[in-house]
Amino acid sequence: MSVPRNRLWIGNEWTDAGDGRTFPTVNPATEEVIAEVAEAGPEEIDRAVSTARTGFADGGWRRMNPHKRSQLLWSLADLVDANADELALLETRDNGKPYFEARRIDVPSVAQTLRYYAGLADKVQGDTIQVPGPFLNYTLREPVGVVGAIIPWNFPLSMAAWKVAPALACGNTVVLKPAEQTPLTALRFGELAAEAGLPPGVLNVVPGFGETAGAALVRHRGVNAISFTGSTEVGRVVMREAAGTLKKVSLELGGKSPNIVFADADLRAAVKGASMGVFYGKGEVCAAGSRILVESAVHEEFVEGLKTLAAKAAVGDPMAPATRLGAIVSEEQLDRVMRYIESGRRDGARLVAGGERIKVNGRGHFVNATVFSEVDPEMAIAREEIFGPVAAVIPFDDVDDAVAKANDSLYGLAAGVWTRDIGKAHRLAAEIDAGTVWVNTYNQYAPGSPFGGYKESGFGRDLGFQSALEKYTHLKSVWVALDR
Ligand code: NAI
Ligand code: MG
Repeated sequence: MSVPRNRLWIGNEWTDAGDGRTFPTVNPATEEVIAEVAEAGPEEIDRAVSTARTGFADGGWRRMNPHKRSQLLWSLADLVDANADELALLETRDNGKPYFEARRIDVPSVAQTLRYYAGLADKVQGDTIQVPGPFLNYTLREPVGVVGAIIPWNFPLSMAAWKVAPALACGNTVVLKPAEQTPLTALRFGELAAEAGLPPGVLNVVPGFGETAGAALVRHRGVNAISFTGSTEVGRVVMREAAGTLKKVSLELGGKSPNIVFADADLRAAVKGASMGVFYGKGEVCAAGSRILVESAVHEEFVEGLKTLAAKAAVGDPMAPATRLGAIVSEEQLDRVMRYIESGRRDGARLVAGGERIKVNGRGHFVNATVFSEVDPEMAIAREEIFGPVAAVIPFDDVDDAVAKANDSLYGLAAGVWTRDIGKAHRLAAEIDAGTVWVNTYNQYAPGSPFGGYKESGFGRDLGFQSALEKYTHLKSVWVALDR
């Protein structure tokens, strides 16, 4: 494969940080430095934002024939497909996820998201409204301007696409700041966008750290909206800092999503779904079903089943086809996960599977699929986002108890319900405070289906049609007097 792109991508050109500053990005499975990457700070963010402003102001993008804008996004999707092997390999090396996941799930979903929003580009429209008096009143949907996108390291390229595709479709220009742990696919994506024909300044990619590059983007007066995905802790900072310039903010934050298994469920399916729900993506998934609530009558049987599947989730080299759990994204993140596992033990939860820090071929940051049962809802492992393959199984008595326990969280990102009782399923879907509820399935995503949080999981929605318009356009009301 080609050498990873490692410089700042601004105005369709590679450029360095002013003082040549770089930072290493590491393969968490091998602990090797993959590349030294140019590090954006406030000065480079300012450069990127000016370039994006020019790209917006010159009208070349926002006033482009919408069919043409649509076509360019479609071409970018084709280029993502054409370079899927390379992108997947970059993602795997940067993030530690199994190659087959990056290749079969992440990268195709990026192309799908781009194609979905290519379809939005020529469907941005307002309404004509009946008003009293001799007036014509109508609304226009206009792009907000420059969008700052700040994304995490768990699904680097998918998260980029979730933000960039709708923002561009609506006619905005973008400054994208990937996570410091995983900058490589975003950089290549920027280059592919230029190859697809996106004009200079439309998509700029500036790797750097949160407290410097990210914070500068949030504060910048030339940025009209921030679309953020990351921790709840940083979400609070982003909202506070964005207040200085009152820019539009949307936050897709953490979760501690309940996956609720009733005794009347297809238990085999529920065990599989719960296992996938919490272990998929090494548990580094904002919607991970990390609180598994199980009706007491089937609790023992469920735990036995989950234990068996946890033991089967092969930890290993992300490039090996049999691997199900790759490397945790960084040593720092693995330390965090291990501290939670320790706290679960200390607090008296029963460790029934996993819990071990592992090296593969003598290196890397791995942990095996971990299951705690007999978890008390007050324990830290039941309340806090771990962002690792750690399941907390909590028993419940009846429907009311399940709803109460499910909603007993600061978070409200997603939830799962497993039951054969259709009434119960819909009742739970309505009563759970979460942006997504999955019934007899888990971790389903599609570009047309909005995704985002209730409560401290944030606000605003990624994906979806109407939600993208709300997020990435202003609604303008125009009055025209008809009698003069
Ligand atoms: P983080 O929230 O610090 O990082 C996410 C993004 O925000 C990165 O691009 C980072 O550079 C940026 N950022 C950090 N500080 C910023 C600031 N002051 N201003 C602007 N941007 C800033 O997440 P981190 O530290 O990598 O992971 C810590 C924990 O956060 C994880 O263990 C997990 O629990 C949670 N997390 C949740 C995610 C989710 O999607 N729900 C994604 C990533 C982390
Ligand atoms: Mg951080």
